[in-house]
Amino acid sequence: TTVELTVEELELAGHDHFMHKEIHEQPSSVERMLGGRLDDRFGSARLDGLRMELRELRGFRRVKVLGCGSAYYVGQLGATLIEDLARVPADAEPASEFRYRNPVIEPDTLYVAVSQSGETADTLFAVREIQRKGGRVVGLVNVVGSSIARQCDGGIYLHAGPEVSVASTKALTHMAVGFALLALALGRVHDLSHADGARILAGLQALPGQIAEILADEETIAEAGRRLADARSLFFIGRVRGYPVAREAAQKFKEITYRHAEAYPSSELKHGPLALIDADLPTVAVVPDDDLVERNLAAAHEIRARGGRLTVITHPGVDLGDLEADRITVPRNERELDPILLTIPTQLLAYHAARALGEDIDRPRNLAKSVTVE
Ligand code: AGP
Repeated sequence: TTVELTVEELELAGHDHFMHKEIHEQPSSVERMLGGRLDDRFGSARLDGLRMELRELRGFRRVKVLGCGSAYYVGQLGATLIEDLARVPADAEPASEFRYRNPVIEPDTLYVAVSQSGETADTLFAVREIQRKGGRVVGLVNVVGSSIARQCDGGIYLHAGPEVSVASTKALTHMAVGFALLALALGRVHDLSHADGARILAGLQALPGQIAEILADEETIAEAGRRLADARSLFFIGRVRGYPVAREAAQKFKEITYRHAEAYPSSELKHGPLALIDADLPTVAVVPDDDLVERNLAAAHEIRARGGRLTVITHPGVDLGDLEADRITVPRNERELDPILLTIPTQLLAYHAARALGEDIDRPRNLAKSVTVE
């Protein structure tokens, strides 16, 4: 007998959805992205695409990241990475807001536009507006030769390969890795020591294997995801580096499950949203093993005390004690790079919740893969 496969089935390579396929591509795609870019000798990143002399790179006194939707959330993580490693003030803003507010463009600010498609109209217009006022913009873009890639003054291609699923996963991971490379290069022309540079390089090299390790435990994450499917509304919480992780996790959950999901900094709970917690509103908490772990666990206990169900994404060393929760454990990397790994299970949480609900995972209603209209 012959089995006839459609082009789509061939492209899916045995996966039920492109989103699932793309999640599972991450170990090899990240490995490919890092190829040739890790500079062991100088404990830095090799980023020829930036088209910038080291002295020029050193001259920037501020970094401003612009992107839309998930690209903006990763941009927030990127800004934290840049502040951590380069000690250069950095922040992120939705490109869609920036372009409408007559922003002040400074010559010693490095502007970074981040986009999977390279065709998002709001991001492209933000780039043009910055350049018109004399600012310098580099791109973190996936699609080679796209409008944003061409418009920027240089950049870092993400090399994530084609992404079909409207809900982005691997491209976002690549954006985060791109920010780590940029932060490393910026750090090494500022005060980051060779030893610290080498520490980050080793962390980057460990990422592909660690992502594979997380994906190998998919069933644990899938079970937790299915348990979240019955909620009408959910919270995702995290603190400092964990907050952009929570924001992106909530976004992914909303896009494909059509459930209301909202992200809060853990520290903000007591300033309002705690009022909503009950047995019908579960929370997904990002609790890395860092100097904030005790505070994050305290927030988790407050949620449990009010009857809220919990899913905790955490590290092996963290003792949850008597906290009743679905636990998802990811391997530790360097603290600056941990958010990249903490995000991976949130992709699968959304995927398996949406699957349990029978939603159209790759083509969610009302959304387009790239928003080229204003
Ligand atoms: C991600 O899951 C979303 N579909 C969406 O937020 C997306 O990240 C945003 O529209 C930006 O797209 P871009 O990266 O192609 O510019």
